[in-house]
Amino acid sequence: MLLSDPTPLITGPVVPVVTLDRAADAVPLARALLAGGLSVMEITLRTPAALEAVRAVVAEVADMVVGVGTIVKPLDVTHAVDAGADFLVSPGTPANLARALADAPVPALPGCATVSEAMALAALGFPVLKFFPAEASGGLRWLNAVAEPLPDIRFCPTGGVNGNNAAGYLALRNVLAVGGSWVAPAQAIAAGDLAGITARARAAVALRR
Ligand code: 3PG
Repeated sequence: MLLSDPTPLITGPVVPVVTLDRAADAVPLARALLAGGLSVMEITLRTPAALEAVRAVVAEVADMVVGVGTIVKPLDVTHAVDAGADFLVSPGTPANLARALADAPVPALPGCATVSEAMALAALGFPVLKFFPAEASGGLRWLNAVAEPLPDIRFCPTGGVNGNNAAGYLALRNVLAVGGSWVAPAQAIAAGDLAGITARARAAVALRR
């Protein structure tokens, strides 16, 4: 297995993408996702609370696989790894970031939105790529169109994917899983609606082919 292959870690059909304003919400949220059957999550580096949230889930929720997302520069790789990230996710992947992700001690799911970007990342040894922003970049039609020319690359489409369109993505042979914020949206986290998050996690697990 390549170090940069996150496949063994991405056990669910859906990777919930979560943005946390309060680190204290992280552990209850992770437990709510686990209760619904999802044991992988992506915590975005979009808030000051993000790294503390990652450390809390890593320390307290042993069964949860924690991806750190919105990695946009090499220093983010260092911070995420130091916080205990199991894998790393980027929205797009300039060359300097690709090198940092390839050198990281944990696997990565680097972001791409074009054929050339996908080819460049595959050549560096990344077999699974985040296709972002999926809906805005061509969605199902893009993934179908690249399946034959890029038969060895699998994608995790994210961005505009939700409970209504996820099944269509998961039916594609070049899709490993989908990502999205719909399972644990910011409003639900802010409102403490853990039951709703568990219910959406359960529905997401049921999307498995
Ligand atoms: C991400 O960072 O992957 C996206 O913000 C998730 O996109 P969504 O909010 O459209 O699901």
